[in-house]
Amino acid sequence: MKSLLLAILAAGLAGRVASAEPYQVAVIPKGTTHEYWKAVQAGAMKAQGELNAAGVPVTVIWKGPLKEDDREQQVQVVENFIGRHVNAIVISPLDRNALVAPLATAVQGRITVVTIDSGLNSPLPACYVATDNRAGGRTAARTLAALVGSHGRVLMLRNATGSANTEEREEGFLEVMRQDFPGIKLVSTDQHGGVTRDNAYRTAQNLLNRFGRELDGVFACNQPTTAGLLLALRDAGLAAGKVKFVGFDTGVAELAALKSGDISALMVQDPFGMGYLGVKNAVAVLRGETVAKVVDTGVTVVTRENLDEPAVRDLVNPPLEKYLP
Ligand code: BGC
Repeated sequence: MKSLLLAILAAGLAGRVASAEPYQVAVIPKGTTHEYWKAVQAGAMKAQGELNAAGVPVTVIWKGPLKEDDREQQVQVVENFIGRHVNAIVISPLDRNALVAPLATAVQGRITVVTIDSGLNSPLPACYVATDNRAGGRTAARTLAALVGSHGRVLMLRNATGSANTEEREEGFLEVMRQDFPGIKLVSTDQHGGVTRDNAYRTAQNLLNRFGRELDGVFACNQPTTAGLLLALRDAGLAAGKVKFVGFDTGVAELAALKSGDISALMVQDPFGMGYLGVKNAVAVLRGETVAKVVDTGVTVVTRENLDEPAVRDLVNPPLEKYLP
């Protein structure tokens, strides 16, 4: 009798699951132009495919602002998704403060919020999936110091104010340089390259005009600043290892520059893993499962020497074609 009852209950539950509406999971990047986000999107689509195949219907909706400094547009995207009553929002906040209020509204509306890639000044997200950015900045400093030697002159190109992850990288970099390498002179650490390659290029040109002749090493803390600094170093005749260059993230141009020796090392994150685990964890929360509050997706120092190792090759060539339209 008891087992009959259980069987009836289980059948009822299965029937409900089978007929359930898919979970609507909005995935909101900081911006939509950089290659970095393609990998995040592909990872999110992989998660959607796997969940659907496992009988958990999920629809991922990908939408973000165009530019990574457009706070208003990212807030609007969040508000739109709140209006549409999605079940979850997986977001990389482009500003750690400006997005707190709209995401609090989402949580009040019983929408699950998961942050990926960059943090929020609030404990409200159910989970945060990202690089340990401070550690990434520290490792970048040690990598550059090893290339430059104990008595070089170095500059750092910042990204944008309010962007939690790149500010943490900048802080981690400066912390290690100041504490562990007192013989390295930091000639400039306060300039922001902004959110586009072209802006970063202009800022880097100005910096190199001023400090170029005396420089031994440079650090850029994300993809557009790395791309802009690369162009400026080439223009100034300081590429090809004349000035040691540690950048962050990969893209077609950055990988080619690593191979040719114009970039000495890249700090490579796992944006594919962030998109994938962001969606997986959001759905797990929706289904009442417990997830870790913080998931570290790791960062790898990639050089010309380890570029062909299988794990590195996979990391720098995420399977975009397989998952993106
Ligand atoms: C960061 C992202 C940023 C991207 C492109 C990455 O390093 O993790 O937050 O949006 O660079 O700018």
